[in-house]
Amino acid sequence: MLVDNLRRAAQQNFLSTTEALLQAIDAKDAYTAGHSKRVSELAAFVAKELGKNESEIEVLRYGAYLHDIGKIGVGDLVLTKPSYLTQEEFGLMKRHSEIGYKIIAPIKFMEKCLPIVRHHHEWYNGKGYPDGLQGSDIPFEASILSIVDAYDAITTDRHYHKKYSHQKACEIITQGIDTQFTPTLTEKVLAIINRYHEECIPGERTEYSLTR
Ligand SMILES: [Fe+2]
Repeated sequence: MLVDNLRRAAQQNFLSTTEALLQAIDAKDAYTAGHSKRVSELAAFVAKELGKNESEIEVLRYGAYLHDIGKIGVGDLVLTKPSYLTQEEFGLMKRHSEIGYKIIAPIKFMEKCLPIVRHHHEWYNGKGYPDGLQGSDIPFEASILSIVDAYDAITTDRHYHKKYSHQKACEIITQGIDTQFTPTLTEKVLAIINRYHEECIPGERTEYSLTR
């Protein structure tokens, strides 16, 4: 009982610290403010609709929340550049998934979130990063996150583009099936995102907190 309580307190501590770190990234980069929370909420919704059990949903929720934590190690000039990145700058940006992995790796109870943090930029055709995983070698949860992450990035204002509509985002992601995104899974996830878009009106959702 005491051990359980201590473990729970340690988890709460870590999650509060994580939230503070993510707020630090948000402060560095106003355009991505809220990105982690939105992606976390949508990823958990998708996991639930795909019939995942409670603990699998939680892995997606936390993994999604932490997926960009490695951006804390990317310089401000690259993170907030108001135009597309040069190849060299993109090389620096690409390091965030490995940096995030290293931040999370020592934390035992976040173990199942590690594949999401490390592999959320892998591409179905093997041309993603950091490991160039291909097809079914990409962890399932990371494949889900890459779709949800792209959807949120496309539908919000960024330094380098204005936001696109929900419809346009679905079209862009559909065009990436077989290259960036996993076939069949992507069609299922887009159908769920479509329901989410219709049913969940932004601003009317209860305030989301990781430590609730
Ligand atoms: Fe990322």
